[in-house]
Amino acid sequence: MTTNELLLAIETSCDETAVAVVRGGREIISSVIASQIQTHEQFGGVVPEIASRQHVESITLIMEQALSEAGATFRDISAIAVTQGPGLVGALLVGIVAAKSLSMALDLPLIATHHIAGHIYANQLVHDIVYPSVALVVSGGHTELVVLEREGEFRIIGQTRDDAVGEAYDKVARALQFPYPGGPHIDRLAFEAEEEIDLPRSWLEPDSYDFSFSGLKSAVLAVINQTKMKGEVLNRGALARGFQSSVIHVLVEKALRAVREQGARQLLLCGGVAANKGLRAALTARCEAEGVPLLIPPLALCTDNAAMIGAAAHLKWKSGEFTPLDMKAEPGLSLENWAVRH
Ligand code: KG4
Ligand code: ZN
Repeated sequence: MTTNELLLAIETSCDETAVAVVRGGREIISSVIASQIQTHEQFGGVVPEIASRQHVESITLIMEQALSEAGATFRDISAIAVTQGPGLVGALLVGIVAAKSLSMALDLPLIATHHIAGHIYANQLVHDIVYPSVALVVSGGHTELVVLEREGEFRIIGQTRDDAVGEAYDKVARALQFPYPGGPHIDRLAFEAEEEIDLPRSWLEPDSYDFSFSGLKSAVLAVINQTKMKGEVLNRGALARGFQSSVIHVLVEKALRAVREQGARQLLLCGGVAANKGLRAALTARCEAEGVPLLIPPLALCTDNAAMIGAAAHLKWKSGEFTPLDMKAEPGLSLENWAVRH
């Protein structure tokens, strides 16, 4: 089977309706993203029913736009890739129904894809991945350290025991009265701040690769409340910087320990929080100092997009693993079980 195939990839797991045309898992021919952020902003977070409805309204248009920007027609497409999970079930369903309809009408193979495999393989759209490698996945719903012994094979060695990093960012931002999604606001505030409020680090057991961010979030809320009670003015920048320092310190230390202990040849950073300037800078400096090659996708490929789904689906195209049409949305789809056959 050719490895120069043209995949039409669809991603609707959360609040972005995204469609991309990707050649050979590496080359983005087009990538269109309709963000619903403005809609959800007023509610302080993603409202699942509204997300589904907006996906329904946008999906056809975005699909047409992705094809037209690629200068392609449905006849040029080799297979349809779609995010099967994890994500919001009603949101996933919209992309899946669209993908199944196309697959059936055009008689094209369907490739069910894992959202986090997508985030990891977003790196492959710009760099060569070498194995074994370790991926630090930091998004709104996930915080994981994943070992990739070889292509398309995933072993989760650490994950969050409570809030995901992005979720903690969004909650802290909300407490500081910033709109959803709050991550970029905290990032900017932390960057500009000249002072820093000292906050705790959650290391858990010495040998654990797991994370915990809810204690840190509570510490931030406690500072806000105490300041209010004392009638003082809150230094939001210093608090944002203290929060960000704590998050970055733990992420960087655990990721580098994983690289060392797992004998990885590369560290891959991915997920929406990989857009964080402070995290990118700290990881880059630390990896340089330790001689660890670090891959980070460009900003547009860190947050949700469909090109990354095309990159991950390419692995299953190569192994000829296609998905039956009775496939269902899997809000809790396991990354390890999604492994590619060798
Ligand atoms: O991967 P993503 O687009 O969606 C999920 O799969 O969850 O990640 C979204 C998350 C949000 O929590 C958002 O606040 C966070 O990524 N985020 C950031 C930054 N940009 C986006 N967090 C910290 N700093 C940023 N610059
Ligand atoms: Zn995501």
